[in-house]
Amino acid sequence: MAMKITVIGLGYLGTTHAVAMAKVGHQVIGIEPNQQKIDSLVQGRAGFFEPGLDQELAAQLASGRLTFKQAHDESSRDADIHFICVGTPQSAGSMAADTSYLESAIQALAPFLREDALVVGKSTVPVGTAAKLAQQLAKATGFTSPNLAWNPEFLREGTALEDSLHPDRLVIGVTNPRSEALLREVFAPMIDAGIPFLVTDLATAELVKAAANAFLATKISFINAMAEIAEVSGADATELAQAIGYDERIGNKFLRNGVGFGGGCLPKDIRALIARAEELGVGESVSYLHEIDKINLRRRDRVITLLTEELGSLSGKRVLVLGAAFKPDSDDVRDSPALGIALLARAAGAEVVVHDPIALHGVAVKHPELELEQDLAKAFIGIHAVVLATEWKEYRELDPNTVTPKEKFIIDGRNVLDVARWQQAGFKVLALGRTITN
Ligand code: UGA
Repeated sequence: MAMKITVIGLGYLGTTHAVAMAKVGHQVIGIEPNQQKIDSLVQGRAGFFEPGLDQELAAQLASGRLTFKQAHDESSRDADIHFICVGTPQSAGSMAADTSYLESAIQALAPFLREDALVVGKSTVPVGTAAKLAQQLAKATGFTSPNLAWNPEFLREGTALEDSLHPDRLVIGVTNPRSEALLREVFAPMIDAGIPFLVTDLATAELVKAAANAFLATKISFINAMAEIAEVSGADATELAQAIGYDERIGNKFLRNGVGFGGGCLPKDIRALIARAEELGVGESVSYLHEIDKINLRRRDRVITLLTEELGSLSGKRVLVLGAAFKPDSDDVRDSPALGIALLARAAGAEVVVHDPIALHGVAVKHPELELEQDLAKAFIGIHAVVLATEWKEYRELDPNTVTPKEKFIIDGRNVLDVARWQQAGFKVLALGRTITN
């Protein structure tokens, strides 16, 4: 049955969730304090690149099921469920997550909350946050035990809408049967489609998300650690990944070695988990995550080592970095390995040109020291070395005979190029985690 809901915070998570909830038939009010964002949303533009999302946003606006507001008003009181989707970025000067946006969201919602309505957190949080927010909510509303649940989101950028509508599983942390019943109702289309539905306590639901991202980061850094060994022993980490991946207990996903993980989630989430475990007195349990972070960052240094081994001093050398986004099909440059490499090469004296099909707008203001080029063929002109750092389709499919750099030298930072083809076109090709004979 269609329910009335609000979705608070319209970033990546909130916008996708609001659209997905409208698509399954609910009446959704999206709440976002930033008027510019609202102006863009009401015109059917999410404000970030996500395949298929703008079209679905426009369709849901047209259906009349999705509306946006800058702040709660009396209409929020009609909602049965309020989903909180605000950001929890890394705090300035520490590894911990900053939960202040959640606290503000709770405070702003409290005057418009019905006692029988449910508040559901979807943001990624340090374990224990939900219990604290429940106390804050009780104080702000005067309700003895307000209904608060946690429902972590597992969507990936690039496939966000699809992941929201067809998740691998739904996890809900609840403290009473009414919360569970409301969440079963709102997610009924997914539950009916056979998606596993797990009911836990608040702490477990919060920790499931932190654990899932820590595991994914660990898998990537594991294969990148093997790549470090492969590089000094003559082994091939890509073949190694394929071989161990056939073991179903290991699995072949998230074992692609290369320049490592970035984005707005994995890096900050492992740091937040370390910080929270330390606060709880069990820092040793996840102290290995420090190494996961370090292995990941060392991959960027490896690219600089390969560049200097080939070019000598980078001073006066023009280096082209292919990619700025942290992964393809996204314009997100937060903690991007590609951008990290561009900045390291620049710090080592190179003149750096960055190409990306869609993410350059996010780089221009922050890094005026980098030269940005939108035209791929032009970007190669006068270049001494190329680094493929984000595996966009246009790079994987690029015909090496159509580009004319000054020196034909490329480092495949994602192990996606057809090496023989590039070599036939006269390029010297190096890659991470394997030795290529040129
Ligand atoms: C990640 C998780 O995959 C989602 O499940 C989670 O919901 C999300 O964080 C979140 O916490 O919101 P996302 O940040 O969109 O999703 O990106 P991923 O697809 O996980 O990729 C992360 C990084 O790892 C990228 O830089 C990617 O290039 C890199 N990666 C991924 C590798 O280097 N190797 C791999 O084998 C896979």
